Amino acid sequence: MEKKRVFSGVQPTGNIHLGNYIGALKQFVNLQDEMDCVYCIVDMHSITVPQDPKQLRETTLDVAALYLAVGLDPKKSIIFVQSTVPQHAELSWILTCNAYMGELGRMTQFKDKGKGSDSAGAGLFTYPILMAADILLYKAHLVPVGNDQKQHIEITRDLANRFNHKYGDTFVIPDYKGIEVGARIMALDDPLKKMSKSAENIHSRISLLDSPDKVKKSIMKATTDSEGVIRLDWENKPGVSNLLTIYSAFTDRKIDDIVGQYEGAGYGQLKKDLVEIINESLTPIRKAFEEKRNSEELMDILKDGRERASEIAEQTMKEVRDKVGFIRM
Ligand code: TYM
Repeated sequence: MEKKRVFSGVQPTGNIHLGNYIGALKQFVNLQDEMDCVYCIVDMHSITVPQDPKQLRETTLDVAALYLAVGLDPKKSIIFVQSTVPQHAELSWILTCNAYMGELGRMTQFKDKGKGSDSAGAGLFTYPILMAADILLYKAHLVPVGNDQKQHIEITRDLANRFNHKYGDTFVIPDYKGIEVGARIMALDDPLKKMSKSAENIHSRISLLDSPDKVKKSIMKATTDSEGVIRLDWENKPGVSNLLTIYSAFTDRKIDDIVGQYEGAGYGQLKKDLVEIINESLTPIRKAFEEKRNSEELMDILKDGRERASEIAEQTMKEVRDKVGFIRM
C-alpha cells in the first residue's frame, strides 16, 4: 500500500517557539518514518504582513536550519521554500476564483489581524486560500498543525470538495492532524492567550534558540495562581495546566503521572525541574542549528526539495489546468 502523504508549513517570521515545536515540528519528525512527508517554509504567507526583505531571507534559512536541527531528515522528507515552487501561487488563484467572500470573512485569523480595517491587506483576507493551495497541490491526506490552524483546514476541505464537484474528482480531502496534549500552548505571562511569535513580552514565549538563562527567566516568571496545588485544571488553573502540558510534551509522560510525582510540592519545584527538562532538549537543537545554518549543505537541501516538490506540484497543476479549461501548448 502506498504511504499516506503529509503536508505542513511554518512561516519564517519571528523566532520559532515552544508552541510551534510542540504543536507542529515534533509531529513533523514523528511522522516522517511512516508517511510521505512534505514540509514547507511558507515565505509567501509571511508577506501578508510587512516584512524587511533582507530579514525575510535570513529567517527563511533559519527555519530551514531549524527543521533539520529538530530532526527532519531530507532523505525522508521533502523540505523546501514555498516561493521557489510557483505552482502554489498558480493554484491559489484558481481556488480564489472558487472561494466566497463570506467564508473568508468568517476566518478568525483575518478578523484578529485585519481588525475590520479598510486598509487590512487583501493578502490577509485570501491567506487561507494560499494555505489550501499548499495542501491540495500535494494531495496531502494529513496536515499536522496546532489547533489554531484547524479552521484553515476546514476551509481547505470545503474548497477541495467544491472543486471536485464542479470539475470532477481531483483533490484529496485532507484531515487535520493534531495532538492530544499540546495542540495549543499558551503564553507564559498570560495563559488565556496562545503563545505567539508576535507578542511584545519576550517572556510570554520560549524560542527554540533562547539561551538557557532566558529559558530559566521565562519559566520562573510564568504566571500561575495562588492555590499552590499542582493539578490539571484549564478553567481555574490555566498557567499551571500550561506548564504541565509543556512538561508532558518534553518528557513524553502522561500528565497524571507528572501530577502524581509533584503531590505536595510547590510551583517553584515544578518550574525548576521544567527549566532543566526544556534546556536538556533545547541544547542539542541549538547546537545542531548553528551547524546546519552555517553549512553549505543547507542550500543544496532546499534546491533538492524544490525539485522534488515541483515534480509533484506540476503533475497536479497539469490536471487542474486541463479541468478548468486552460489550453495546452
Ligand atoms: P505558523 O507559522 O503560525 O505556526 C507554525 C505551526 O505552529 C503551530 N502553532 C502552535 N501550536 C501549539 N501552540 C501554539 N501556541 C502554537 N502557535 C503556533 C501552528 O498551528 C502551525 O502548525 N498558516 C500556517 C502556516 C501554513 C501551513 C500551510 C500549515 C501555511 N500553509 C499548509 C499547514 C499546511 C501558520 O501560520 O503557521
